[in-house]
Amino acid sequence: MSGSFPAVRPRRLRRTPALRRLVAETAVRPSQLVLPVFVREGATEPVPIASMPGVVQHSRDSLRKEVAQAVAAGLGGVMLFGVPEHKDAVGSGVEDPSGVLNVALADVAAEVGDELPVMSDLCLDEFTDHGHCGVLAADGSVDNDATLAAYGRAAVAQAAAGSAVVGPSGMMDGQVGVIRAALDAAGYPDTLVLAYAAKYASAFYGPFREAVGSSLRGDRRTYQQDGANRREALREVALDVDEGADMVMVKPALAYLDVLSDVRAAVDVPVAAYNVSGEYAMVAAAAANGWIDRDAAVLETLTAIRRAGADVILTYWALDAARLLTGGR
Ligand code: PBG
Repeated sequence: MSGSFPAVRPRRLRRTPALRRLVAETAVRPSQLVLPVFVREGATEPVPIASMPGVVQHSRDSLRKEVAQAVAAGLGGVMLFGVPEHKDAVGSGVEDPSGVLNVALADVAAEVGDELPVMSDLCLDEFTDHGHCGVLAADGSVDNDATLAAYGRAAVAQAAAGSAVVGPSGMMDGQVGVIRAALDAAGYPDTLVLAYAAKYASAFYGPFREAVGSSLRGDRRTYQQDGANRREALREVALDVDEGADMVMVKPALAYLDVLSDVRAAVDVPVAAYNVSGEYAMVAAAAANGWIDRDAAVLETLTAIRRAGADVILTYWALDAARLLTGGR
């Protein structure tokens, strides 16, 4: 008789919330979440970003308040992006100590000290009038090695301003090694490098372009990875670890969870994933239409990214998620 009923019943483990909590394999903690923030030169008030409802370009003042909230919420860090008033062909604003990002880094570092790791996007694209992540050669292509020199100077400027973690996101060959050497030579051996190691050319960066007022025409397919390639990510990551990356990142997150899982298995350094602007915007748009339960979708997304192998998640939901995770609203 017993043959007609299953003796093995996995559902027993799911019967109550307490049992489910006991056997949950994956947890998301606020300390694992990093909040990306935008600071806009000359802004006196926060400026909403239409394609990212709930996210703003901060003024220097509102940025300081946001970062204080990140500390209070127990977040793992903040990642700063600058939106300059003026751009030029070589993106000189990124290495200028009075450039918007460096000024904001100094503000924020003064606000939080060592209480919260302050991170900075290390790239030229927000500062170049053509919108590319590097300087251009005469034929219009992105010049890898000329760009490396600019990244080295930018890293030192960011460290001097107070960045604890620089995040090179331009996908130039050799960028991590050059940045590490520049930081060491300038007396910043404790500044960390979070390498955007496996970064794919992605449609999911769309809203970010509005967030930083990007002037890019065309695409980044000669330097960012092709979404068709999985093995190649391991090669990129291995190079960055060899060059001295303290942490590596996979970006975007959701369409690349297989890559994230591979990377987690391949390296011993902490692995981050960037839950990007388009991933945020899709949930926001569906929720605004009443088509999806936003809070549930946020937690399910972050859990999935952790389950795939991320130690750290950069997410525009970081503050909201911290509230949800700690039971507050
Ligand atoms: C480059 C950079 C980008 C993002 C982070 N750093 C844009 C790009 O590579 O085109 C995208 C982040 C997002 O979409 O949330 N500085």
